Amino acid sequence: MRIRVLGSSAGGGFPQWNCNCPNCDGLRRRKLMAHARTQSSIAVSANEVDWLLVNASPDILGQIRDTPELQPARAMRDSGIAAVLLMDAQIDHVTGLLMLRERAGALPLLATPEVLSELDSGFPITRLLSHYCGVAPHPVPTDGRTFTAPGLEGIELQAVPLASKPPPYSPFRGNPRPGDNIGLVLRNPATGARVFYAPGLGEVTPELLAIMATCAVVLVDGTFWTGDEMQRLGLSPKAAADMGHLPQSGPGGMIEHLARLPATTRKLLIHVNNTNPILIEDSPERDELTRRRIEVARDGMDIRF
Ligand code: MLT
Ligand code: MN
Ligand code: ZN
Repeated sequence: MRIRVLGSSAGGGFPQWNCNCPNCDGLRRRKLMAHARTQSSIAVSANEVDWLLVNASPDILGQIRDTPELQPARAMRDSGIAAVLLMDAQIDHVTGLLMLRERAGALPLLATPEVLSELDSGFPITRLLSHYCGVAPHPVPTDGRTFTAPGLEGIELQAVPLASKPPPYSPFRGNPRPGDNIGLVLRNPATGARVFYAPGLGEVTPELLAIMATCAVVLVDGTFWTGDEMQRLGLSPKAAADMGHLPQSGPGGMIEHLARLPATTRKLLIHVNNTNPILIEDSPERDELTRRRIEVARDGMDIRF
């Protein structure tokens, strides 16, 4: 089983178009040891031909261009992307659906009923697409039942409801429901190996940590180093917690939780915001991650399991 990281950055990408924070400005001026990143999305395949796209980022066209594996070219119009699964209804995870409108036939779209409903109302992207390729909605269970995506039966999936936040446009922003954000357990039926993926994660409960501990690889929310990162830079009045993201550093932070996982678990951070000092490869924060054997996902990275 293969995961290709198509994009490893949070909303806005790195550098972000209008951002002159030390990271974005430093990358643009080539003064930092850092790599540009596109917005968070992964593709998963059991046979290296048919792919499940997990989240459809606004950068999808460039991500597809950079990934020839997604283009088996079996017909005049064709793509290896057989279905799309969404973790939430955030703009950085769904806007790329509009770029897939030339598809021949309805696009299988797997998401919770809560997310499918946002995409039919607050951000009516599925209604828009009904005038193009259309989508075939597949509500995913959040009660622990496993499921597969159509045409991708070699990838076993399980949704895990997460404490995080629905998008700013959602009427439920201040009052999240369990299906607004999910994490995903991907299982290779041939080996039994599992990967946990959660680009937006506000809280690691003991139950969630127990699920993560059953996985060979965890690929989790790396948005912010500190809870007040955006506030300190004067970029936003909001704390990480207000946005549904658990910061890495400090008491109760992601690093502490990851330290409780078995030593054999491969740990990676994804959905990294452009303000996060871990993007700078020679920063003390990045050194700390390396010491703790936590990796930072990068665009184009392959994870096999
Ligand atoms: C988030 O992850 O909090 C959102 O994607 C922010 C955004 O809309 O850019
Ligand atoms: Mn995001
Ligand atoms: Zn920035």
